[in-house]
Amino acid sequence: MLIENFKVNSPNVEYENDAIRSTYSYESTDLTHEDDGKWTITPTSTEYQFRTATQLPKLGVMLVGWGGNNGTTVTAGCLANKHGITWMTKEGLKKPNYWGSLTQAATCRVGNYRGEEAYTPFSSLLPMVHPNNIVWGGWDISGLNLADAMERAQVLDFELQRQLVPYMKEMTPLPGIYDPDFIAANQDTRADNVIKGSRREQMETIRHDIRSFKQQHQVDRVIVLWTANTERYSEVAEGLNDTTEAFLSSIDNDDSEVAPSSIYAAASILEGVPFINGSPQNTFVPGLIDMAIEKGVLIGGDDFKSGQTKIKSVLVDFLVGAGLKPTSIVSYNHLGNNDGMNLSAPQTFRSKEISKSNVVDDMVNSNSILYSSGEHPDHVVVIKYVPYVADSKRAMDEYTSEIFMGGRNTIALHNTCEDSLLAAPIILDLAILTELLTRIEVKRDDQEDLHAMHPVAVLLSYLTKAPLVPDGTPVINALARQRAMLENVMRACIGLPPDNNMMLEFKV
Ligand SMILES: NC(=O)c1ccc[n+]([C@@H]2O[C@H](COP(=O)([O-])OP(=O)(O)OC[C@H]3O[C@@H](n4cnc5c(N)ncnc54)[C@H](O)[C@@H]3O)[C@@H](O)[C@H]2O)c1
Repeated sequence: MLIENFKVNSPNVEYENDAIRSTYSYESTDLTHEDDGKWTITPTSTEYQFRTATQLPKLGVMLVGWGGNNGTTVTAGCLANKHGITWMTKEGLKKPNYWGSLTQAATCRVGNYRGEEAYTPFSSLLPMVHPNNIVWGGWDISGLNLADAMERAQVLDFELQRQLVPYMKEMTPLPGIYDPDFIAANQDTRADNVIKGSRREQMETIRHDIRSFKQQHQVDRVIVLWTANTERYSEVAEGLNDTTEAFLSSIDNDDSEVAPSSIYAAASILEGVPFINGSPQNTFVPGLIDMAIEKGVLIGGDDFKSGQTKIKSVLVDFLVGAGLKPTSIVSYNHLGNNDGMNLSAPQTFRSKEISKSNVVDDMVNSNSILYSSGEHPDHVVVIKYVPYVADSKRAMDEYTSEIFMGGRNTIALHNTCEDSLLAAPIILDLAILTELLTRIEVKRDDQEDLHAMHPVAVLLSYLTKAPLVPDGTPVINALARQRAMLENVMRACIGLPPDNNMMLEFKV
């Protein structure tokens, strides 16, 4: 049963004209280790207050890499939904939808009504911007208009593309920052729309672009999201980018280790605009993270979690959680889109390999009955470029686990991903949830005032392969835990307890 319209009847929540206020008692634990080697676990209870502004802004989303497969697919998908465009295929009439988007197409359990489980759309928990209302814009080093770029991407059905051309042919990406040292040499032929000048001048151009976009489209809030090619890792060194000052002076000195993605991020942060990184490279060097924290601007990343890794973050959680011991995880991909071509260069592949490799760490570390200290399953990731399969990435995985009494269990998976159709809804969720996070304030009982949550947006972890977290925060990769974190914080904002699956009401 789906409940779309509800209010929470609790002394812990107050609906004001322009905000929802809630008080939430957070039950947690304190651990201490005694000299005799014993642990003590003490339940704790801390009161938090939340205030969520309910007025929705007109939201502009600027994509870096707007003319790429993801950029064109997400823009086209929103336009098709907004204008109710249907299209014929050999299987019949197709209608636009937002499937694959947590905020638009997933539900949360809110209780039980006369024996029937009741769910509400994720988007009904708190007021969120609807994707139909997002104003799209952005940059690309390729100057093709979005209609031609959509055709180049070969993602959407021809009949749909044909109807979208009138809406997309006037959309042209702004010139982008191109540094051939950071992406594969095979991208060179595409780079016909580039910003000239030093790194400082490039950053100023991006800042100016953000301001002009805001003004031209009269949007209240802008979010910048990187969906451009994967870059190589940049060097991290003392004096280069370890502090805000070092990072900014490296931009001033036009240091060749400052990556284009870090320049876009710096420009966004200086404009007070959140920046989300959908690719695996280390855009967020320490100095940039410090800058976001100092300025109180949200940042999130890294690398969209769309296909193979999403399955991994479920499957390994299941195996280790069931007391089985994954000992070998081999993930093989081949894809034929431009992302695949860029990843065929060793230095960009390396960024992807790193972001895909840490995804099982927290699950392995959670069970030292199975794994001794420092022990880890063999984990290998292979990516090959096969142009013929275009955007239909094939992901083949083999998970081998040790089981009862020396036995072995092997699971082999074949997944045809349709890469950009999986990534586009994730881009929407990242933008919609980031905007929502800018409206939530929180206060612990020992704090004076309500304030924004930490600028490093851990709540976006569900959507990214290598979640960016503040220093000292545990990295959670298991998908179910990531979803529960997001859902339960949203529930706290409206005075609802976390959904803990105890279902005690049915047990007495
Ligand atoms: N399922 C997925 O599609 C998925 C999942 C995870 C991560 N990603 C990452 O998302 C990114 C985009 O994927 P895609 O399939 O859309 O790739 P794409 O190659 O089709 O699009 C990238 C676009 O970025 C542009 N570009 C490159 N450098 C730029 C710069 N410095 N400034 C502005 N524009 C620039 C390119 O011209 C291109 O149009 C890739 O890094 C990919 O690894 C994709």
